Amino acid sequence: MKTVLVPIAVFCLLAATATIPTTSSTKPDLLSSYVSFSIELEGFVNYAGENHQSSKGLLRGIDVKLCTVTGNSSSGVNQYSINLLQNLGSAMSSMPVIRVGGNTADEVIYQSSQRDALNFSCPVAKICMGPSFFDSYQAFPNTLFSHGFNMAWNNDTGYTSLKQTVAKACKALENKLSTWEFGNEPDLYLGRLRPSDWSPSAYVANWKDGTEMIFKQLQETCPSLANAANFTFMAPSIAGNAAKLSPTGVFSAGLDANKTISEVSFHNYMGIAGSSGTSLQHTLMNHEKNVAKLDEHGQLARQIAAMPGMSSIPYILGETNSLAGGGASGISNTFGAALWGLDFNVGASYAAWNPSEGATFAPYYGHLAAAKFMGKSQLRAVLNISLSEDNSLNSAYAGYNTLTGGLDKIAIINFRFYNSSTKAARDNSTYTFKVMPSSNWAIERLEAAGAESVTGVTFGGYAYEYSTMGQPKLVARNGEVAKVGLDGILHMTVLDSTAAILSLQSS
Ligand SMILES: *[C@@H]1O[C@H](CO)[C@@H](O)[C@H](O)[C@H]1NC(C)=O
Ligand SMILES: *[C@@H]1O[C@H](CO)[C@@H](O)[C@H](O)[C@H]1NC(C)=O
Ligand SMILES: *[C@@H]1O[C@H](CO)[C@@H](O)[C@H](O)[C@H]1NC(C)=O
Ligand SMILES: *[C@@H]1O[C@H](CO)[C@@H](O)[C@H](O)[C@H]1NC(C)=O
Ligand SMILES: *[C@@H]1O[C@H](CO)[C@@H](O)[C@H](O)[C@H]1NC(C)=O
Ligand SMILES: *[C@@H]1O[C@H](CO)[C@@H](O)[C@H](O)[C@H]1NC(C)=O
Ligand SMILES: *[C@@H]1O[C@H](CO)[C@@H](O)[C@H](O)[C@H]1NC(C)=O
Ligand SMILES: *[C@@H]1O[C@H](CO)[C@@H](O)[C@H](O)[C@H]1NC(C)=O
Repeated sequence: MKTVLVPIAVFCLLAATATIPTTSSTKPDLLSSYVSFSIELEGFVNYAGENHQSSKGLLRGIDVKLCTVTGNSSSGVNQYSINLLQNLGSAMSSMPVIRVGGNTADEVIYQSSQRDALNFSCPVAKICMGPSFFDSYQAFPNTLFSHGFNMAWNNDTGYTSLKQTVAKACKALENKLSTWEFGNEPDLYLGRLRPSDWSPSAYVANWKDGTEMIFKQLQETCPSLANAANFTFMAPSIAGNAAKLSPTGVFSAGLDANKTISEVSFHNYMGIAGSSGTSLQHTLMNHEKNVAKLDEHGQLARQIAAMPGMSSIPYILGETNSLAGGGASGISNTFGAALWGLDFNVGASYAAWNPSEGATFAPYYGHLAAAKFMGKSQLRAVLNISLSEDNSLNSAYAGYNTLTGGLDKIAIINFRFYNSSTKAARDNSTYTFKVMPSSNWAIERLEAAGAESVTGVTFGGYAYEYSTMGQPKLVARNGEVAKVGLDGILHMTVLDSTAAILSLQSS
């Protein structure tokens, strides 16, 4: 499935604890960078920019602030992307982890003599990659990456390219490596790039050959990465849980025999672009549908965690987005998709910003709201609140600081579809909670003219647009505070197709 930019899971269902949800209402354990991004390899150079200073020989230890600052990636690092990522990083305990991979990682072949980072009209393959591709890994400060290697090309050309790619990637990623990845959605290779009866054990045999080659190249080029601590993978990066390549079968067949899997990774989409019955309200703006999707993953996570030796490996959604197949205009790029992203706690959707044309797409604001809700604490516990009214059109979460055990965040999403071009009056719902008496709560609203809006989104009154290089600009009301009386009753009115994040100020 083709994606350009999608977030990596917020939920890290850490299998070691006994708290993997039976419904998704139990507390998830969070990775420090729970809002992270997956960028198609073919798009990475645009998102990051090229570090021209590094190609002049200052390859390592560059302070990116010294580089040319531009929103367009053709010269220097992409400061616009950096600012948007830093907005998220400063709300969390660390910068988002960037996965560079996806479909195009399985289509790219390395060409040592190529001047351009990427060439889309090269004779050898659909995409060719030159040495300067790896300069882009210097663009984002304090950021960890995963790099996806090509598993699809199971022939001499593929393996020669693999070795050369490992040698370049490992030099670029020493001190910046989250994990490696080998193969994207191998379940979709069947009948295309591999025989239609390709079995889990055949996949694992192929995995062994490739990863052994990667290991040998690391020993030669980057020995500091050729050890148990640093030689790790996210895998199997399977597309769907109706996969023809059995998700549990690949582990039974010994995928983690050498304890190299640091993240059990599966992909998630809410639907497929262009398929019938897909709409904002039904496919994305529906809390129960989100819950059902998360439950499917929770069940698979539990099955895998129950296998020998697997109980402490985090389960992540290595790639997740609203709609597979590149997203659908009018759905995946809208504000409604931002509300979905917030609810899915992933902060998600098709392309959160476009690096070269200069547009912050509505869904970016869903990532930001999710990051603001989760806050800096890695010890954040989240509880789903059951509401007395329709639980598909309303969603509410409570956030606790697990150090103090205290409630300090509330998120409310009103999923009722409001179409601003109808000019109808916008309805609202009032949500009532019992909280600490005499507490004060800062309110940040996630708003736009309507669910169908693709621009004009604000969070807490701020816009993060290209005109300000992704830095916050106050454009709407902010500073709203909810004051709770002695009875502890908190009333919050939330307009249709908007959300609100409440943060405890004092109690
Ligand atoms: C939240 O609560 C609603 C209502 O009980 C329920 O339908 C839903 O499954 C719960 N969501 C999660 C994430 O557990
Ligand atoms: C890509 O490679 C082809 C074939 O080697 C070459 O003719 C072309 O100029 C290259 N394109 C770019 C943009 O460098
Ligand atoms: C290697 O495998 C890839 C993927 O199946 C294929 O496209 C390519 O033509 C093969 N190359 C050679 C030289 O066999
Ligand atoms: C892992 O890699 C990092 C970065 O290259 C290095 O500092 C560290 O020493 C490595 N760990 C081991 C056990 O070699
Ligand atoms: C485990 O390591 C051994 C020795 O390097 C190698 O032969 C084998 O293929 C590896 N197995 C897997 C599943 O990676
Ligand atoms: C960035 O570059 C693209 C392609 O070269 C161009 O179309 C676009 O107008 C540029 N954007 C800005 C803001 O300069
Ligand atoms: C919103 O309303 C306009 C005007 O009635 C209509 O043309 C459009 O299809 C509606 N959009 C959606 C997503 O329902
Ligand atoms: C909420 O809707 C009611 C009508 O249903 C309206 O009277 C009230 O002003 C609305 N409140 C806000 C804050 O928009």
